[in-house]
Amino acid sequence: TEKILLFADPGIDDSLAIIYALLNPNIELVGIVTSYGNVSKEQATANAYYLLQLANQTQIPIIPGAANPVEQEEASNIYYPEIHGAEGMGPIRPPGDLQYQVHSFETIRTIINRYPNEIVIVDTGRSTSLATALILFNEEIKKVKAFYLMGGAFFVPGNVTALAEANFYGDPTATNYVLTHAHNLTITPLNVTQYALLTSEMVQRLTQEGNTPFGALLSPIFEFYYNAYQKNIPNIQGAPIHDLLTVMIVANPTIVEYVYYDPKVINGDSEAKGMSFIDIRPTSPKGKTRIAVKLDYEKFVEEFLNVMLILD
Ligand code: BDR
Ligand code: CA
Repeated sequence: TEKILLFADPGIDDSLAIIYALLNPNIELVGIVTSYGNVSKEQATANAYYLLQLANQTQIPIIPGAANPVEQEEASNIYYPEIHGAEGMGPIRPPGDLQYQVHSFETIRTIINRYPNEIVIVDTGRSTSLATALILFNEEIKKVKAFYLMGGAFFVPGNVTALAEANFYGDPTATNYVLTHAHNLTITPLNVTQYALLTSEMVQRLTQEGNTPFGALLSPIFEFYYNAYQKNIPNIQGAPIHDLLTVMIVANPTIVEYVYYDPKVINGDSEAKGMSFIDIRPTSPKGKTRIAVKLDYEKFVEEFLNVMLILD
């Protein structure tokens, strides 16, 4: 099994990634670091806790992280309620009287020390909290087995500006720090995640045949997310579950194909803010970062249904 420490901003696809991780026997979720992004840090934290509660897994520590990016925009200017809903899970809201305890940021250090060279860090949100962890815990971080980031769009259209993908747009300074300081790094950019489509047929199977604590959630969440995507991308056949794919490839690396480069993100206030790029000139040296570029959709669907229906 893979021990995953997830940095996330739930968020619909983050929530689905959490559900997938909780249901997957090949994954042990060892903590969730919640940050601003799709919603505020407080909302992201409540949403993550609610999912743990539904799964009866509240022993998994929730660690609140960043409330704002390092520089430039206030986080509240860059939430995306039209895609994820005002509270992050479409029409689903955690109960108003939800009571929970959170863990300190230091818990990240404790978790890494408890399982040296075993922890895989997956970041499906803005990079601020992960960059902070890399800076604060620079010694412990060496004992992380691998890093995975959902983010970027390499020579394909962005999803929040013409050039930029939301996670890398949210805090490019932090993303550049992560890109240069995280080892064994894999990225799943829009190049692959935009094809990781959840369809109404898949959701129908989950609601009809599935037997998990999340049954009642999946269909309303999907409806909301799918309708939101259809407004942006006419005729899209489903809704892309970017963050779930990123978690999925940790234990299923062959679902995507990779290239190796050293990606960078454009910083500062310009129209190119958050744009990711690689140097693909023929003479450019090979890089260290593994970038997913091609998705095997059939394998993706099979693996998704196996885990979400608990078939194995
Ligand atoms: C990414 O941005 C977020 O809004 C999604 O949750 C995903 O992590 C896609 O660009
Ligand atoms: Ca996310």
